[in-house]
Amino acid sequence: MCGITGYIGYKEAYPIIINGLKRLEYRGYDSAGIILNENENFKLRKTKGKVSDLEDKCTDLNTKATVGMGHTRWATHGVPNDINSHPHVSNNGKIALIHNGIIENYNTLKIMLISKGYVFKSETDTEVLVNLIQYMQETQQEDFATAVRYALNEVVGAYAIAVMEIDRPQEIVVARLSSPLAIGIGENEYFIASDASPFVEFTKEVVYLEDGEMATITLEGGVDVHKIKDNAKVNLIIQELKLSLEEIEKGGYDHFMLKEIHEQPKSIMDTMRGRLLVNEGTIQMAGILDYQDKFLNAEKIIIISCGTSWHAGLVGEYLIEDLARIPVEVEYASEFRYRNPIITDKDVVIAISQSGETADTLAALKLAKEKGAFIYGICNVVDSSIARLTDAGSYTHAGPEIGVASTKAFTAQLAVLTMIAIKLAKHKGVISEEKFNTLIAELETIPNKVRDVIKNTEEQVKAIARLYAKTSNFLYLGRGYNYPIALEGALKLKEISYIHAEGYPAAEMKHGPIALIDENMPIVVIAPKTDHYDKIVSNIQEINSRKGNVIAIVTENDTQVRNMVSQAIEIPDVSECLIPILASIPLQLLAYYIAILRGANVDQPRNLAKSVTVE
Ligand code: AGP
Ligand code: GLU
Repeated sequence: MCGITGYIGYKEAYPIIINGLKRLEYRGYDSAGIILNENENFKLRKTKGKVSDLEDKCTDLNTKATVGMGHTRWATHGVPNDINSHPHVSNNGKIALIHNGIIENYNTLKIMLISKGYVFKSETDTEVLVNLIQYMQETQQEDFATAVRYALNEVVGAYAIAVMEIDRPQEIVVARLSSPLAIGIGENEYFIASDASPFVEFTKEVVYLEDGEMATITLEGGVDVHKIKDNAKVNLIIQELKLSLEEIEKGGYDHFMLKEIHEQPKSIMDTMRGRLLVNEGTIQMAGILDYQDKFLNAEKIIIISCGTSWHAGLVGEYLIEDLARIPVEVEYASEFRYRNPIITDKDVVIAISQSGETADTLAALKLAKEKGAFIYGICNVVDSSIARLTDAGSYTHAGPEIGVASTKAFTAQLAVLTMIAIKLAKHKGVISEEKFNTLIAELETIPNKVRDVIKNTEEQVKAIARLYAKTSNFLYLGRGYNYPIALEGALKLKEISYIHAEGYPAAEMKHGPIALIDENMPIVVIAPKTDHYDKIVSNIQEINSRKGNVIAIVTENDTQVRNMVSQAIEIPDVSECLIPILASIPLQLLAYYIAILRGANVDQPRNLAKSVTVE
C-alpha cells in the first residue's frame, strides 16, 4: 500500500527522504508527508496529493536535519486529506510515526485511549498506534523502544512502521508484521524503506526485517534486532543488494509503463536465461526438479493470485492441463482464503505475485501451508514475503516493475509457467521428445518475436488508440489460451484509462454481452490461427451482424479475419501455447496509448497501488 522511508546519519535528510518517497510513490500516492528532527524539534509537513505537492509545502522548511522519515499513502482508514496523511504525532507532541498496513483493532484501542483522555485529529488507525506508544511509555515507565514493543503487542493487524522520539534524534525504531521493511546499512548512516529503491545509490548492504521483528537503529549502536513478542535478540543477517539505479529509472521513456513494455524482449530472455537450454535439450529449474514428485503425484495444483497475476494463473491452468495433464484450479487469493477450501498434503499450491507482498495472496498461502500443501512461489521481487514463505519457487527475472499496471512481470510469469508446464510434461512422459524439443526451440525465439511485435505494431496501435480514445466501453474476447489474455487486456485498459472494459470467453458473448453490441462498441477479439479459429470467425460474424467494431489480433498473413474487421493487428505464427505472450503486447500498447490520449497518469492510476499489502 503505502511507502515508508527514513534516514539517520550525517547527510541532510530532506533530499534523501523526498527522493526516496518519489521512488516509493508507486506504492501509494494519495498523500505524502515528512518529519525531520532538528535539535530536538520536529519539523512536520504533510499534504493530500503527491510527493511533488509535498515539496511545494516544504519550500520554507530550511533545515539541515540529519534524521527524519517520510510517507506516501494509499488510504485505508480515512479519506486522503492533509490531516489523515502521515506522519502522525502523539498527543504530547513527542512521538512521530509512519505506517504501512492496517491496525485491525484500532477502534477498541481508540475507545480505550479516549477514555484515558487522548484526543484524535485524524480518522486513521495509525494515529491510534502512535498514542498507544505514548500511553505505554507513560504507564509502564519504560524506555522508548520497549514502549513501542509493548504497544505492538496490543495490536492486531499488519504493519511496517518507523517511529521517532523528539528527545532522541539519534534513534529510529522500526518494526514489521506482514508489510515489508528494508534497512540499508551505510558508513555511519542508515536508511529505512519499504523496499531498497530509496537507498540503492548509497549502499549495497541491506537487512530485511522478518515478520514479528523490530529494530532499534542508532548512530552509536547500529541496527539492533529483537523479536516484538518477547524481546529475544535476533542475529543481523546482512544481504548484498542486487538492484541498480539504472533499473529503477525511466531511461528516456515518458513513462515507466512504456519502458517496461519495451523491456519485455529482455525481461523474458532474462527469465529464461540459464533455464531454457535448447542445445542440451533440457529445461533447468531446480525448484521443479527437486520437488518433481510432488508435482507429478499431485492430486491437483491450485494456483492462487490476484489481478494480473491471476490472469497469468489462468494461462498456467491451460498450459499445465494441456501439456502436462495435471489437474489445475485457479483461485482468487481473497476468495480462496475465506471459503474453507478443500486442500490436503497431496496438493501443490502455486502462488503467483509480482511484488511477493500482496496481502491476500500471502494470507491464502499461509492457510494452504497450515493444511499441509506443498507451496511453490512465482515471484518477481527477490526475498519478498511470499518468496520467503514458500517451500520452493522460480523467480521471474523481469527486473523492478514500477508502473502500477503490470506488463513485463506478466509476460515473465507466462514464460515461467510455460517452462514449468513443458518440463512437467516431459518428466511425466506425456509429450514426446520431439514435441518437447520443438516447443523449447520455439520458446527460445519468443523474446525476438516480442521485439518484432512491438516494432511492427506500435504505430498501428497508436493510430487505433486515436480512433477509440473517446469511447466509454470496450469488450475483449478470446478463446482457450487467449481467454485470460482478453481478461488481462480489459484490466489494463480499465486500470489506466478508466474506460469500462470487460473480458469474456468469446463463446460466452452470445449468453449475454452480445446485448451490448452496437455501432458504438469496440470489441477486441484475439483471433489467431488455432484449432478454435473457425469458431472465433463465427463469433466475429455475429458481432458484424450487430454492427460492432472489431479490432482483431490475428496471425500474420491471415486475410480471412482481416477482411471481416475494422482493424487487424498481426502477431507471428507460433504454437498455441505461446500465443498469450505475443497477444498481450498489442493490448498493453493499446491501453497505454488510449490512456495517454485521455490525459491519464498511466504510471500512477487513481485509487490503485502497486503493491496491495492490506486485505
Ligand atoms: C496489475 O496491473 C494490477 N495493478 C494488479 O491487478 C496486480 O496484478 C495485483 O495487485 C497482484 O499483484 P502482485 O502480482 O504483486 O501480487
Ligand atoms: N492504514 C493507514 C492509513 O490509512 C496506512 C495505509 C497504508 O498502508 O498506506 O493511513
